[in-house]
Amino acid sequence: MTADYEAEWRARFGEDSELPGEVPDVPWLRQVLMRRTHRRYAPRPIPEPLLRLLLGAAFSASSKSDFQQVSVIRVEDRGRRERLAALIPDMPWIGTAPVFLVFCGDARRLERLGEFRQHPNDNGGLEGFFNAAVDTALVLQTFILAAESAGLGCCPISALRNHAGTVADILELPDKVFPVAGLCVGYPAAGGFTSMRLPLAMTLHNDHYDDHDLGEGVAAYDRRRAARYAPPREQQRAAEIFGYADFYGWSEDKTRQAAAQPEGQTFPGYLRSRGFAFD
Ligand SMILES: Cc1cc2nc3c(=O)[nH]c(=O)nc-3n(C[C@H](O)[C@H](O)[C@H](O)COP(=O)(O)O)c2cc1C
Repeated sequence: MTADYEAEWRARFGEDSELPGEVPDVPWLRQVLMRRTHRRYAPRPIPEPLLRLLLGAAFSASSKSDFQQVSVIRVEDRGRRERLAALIPDMPWIGTAPVFLVFCGDARRLERLGEFRQHPNDNGGLEGFFNAAVDTALVLQTFILAAESAGLGCCPISALRNHAGTVADILELPDKVFPVAGLCVGYPAAGGFTSMRLPLAMTLHNDHYDDHDLGEGVAAYDRRRAARYAPPREQQRAAEIFGYADFYGWSEDKTRQAAAQPEGQTFPGYLRSRGFAFD
C-alpha cells in the first residue's frame, strides 16, 4: 500500500513542495510527523507496567561503543519533586505531570567498572562527557516517541541544567553523573498543534555543506509560520531591548532569545566541580 502523507507533511512543514513520492503507508510515521510536546496532563495515572515497558524501549536506543552511559532518576518523592519544580516557577508542568523523570549522562559507571575489572580509565574528559550526553539524548528521544505511540504526551526540561548543582544535590547525583534533561510524562489534557519545522532544503545538504540561500529560505519559512500563527505584539520577546518589530517571525524570536536570554552559563563550572576536565 502506498500513501502520500500530504496532511502530515503540511502540518510539519507548512507546504508540500518537498513531499516524498510513492512511499509505503506507515501509520507510525504519520504520527511522528504530527508529534508535539505536551505540557498539560489529564489527572490519569500512568499504569506502572506501561511505564516500565516504555523505559525498556527507551534503553533500547543505540549506544556509543555499547558503553551504556545513561541513568534515569524517577522522581516519586513529593518533596524532591516540589524542590525541583520550585527552581523553575514559570514551568509549572514540572510539578503537575503525573510522572517526572530526569535523564542523566553517566560517565561514572564506566570508571567504576574499570575499578572492578582492574582496568582503570579516566572518563571525565570531553569524550566521556560527550558520549554520555549523546547516549542520554538518544534514550530521552526514544522514550518520548515510545510514550507518544502509547497515547502519552511528554515535555523535556533542559531548564534543569540552569540549576545543575541544586538538581544534583536534590537527586544525590555523584561526580560524573549530570542532568541532561527532565521529562514530564502524562496523558495529554488537550490535542494541541504541530510545530512547523524548517524545510529539508535548509537542513539536508547534498554531498557538501551549502547555506548560500539561508536568508531567502528562512524568510519564506518565517512567513509560512506566521501565516499559521503570528504571536501578538505583547508576546514579542525582550521588547525593552529590541523594541517592537512590524513583522515578528520565528527567526526574530529565536535570535532575540539566544541574544537576550542565554542559558547554561553555570553549567561548565558545575561540570568542572563534578569531576569533568575538558582541557
Ligand atoms: C533537549 C530539550 C529541552 C527542552 N527543554 C524544555 C524546557 O526546559 N521547558 C519546556 O517547556 N520545553 C522544553 N523543551 C520542549 C521544546 O520547547 C519543544 O520541543 C519545541 O518548542 C518544539 O516543539 P514540539 O516538540 O512540539 O515540536 C525542550 C525540548 C528539548 C528537545
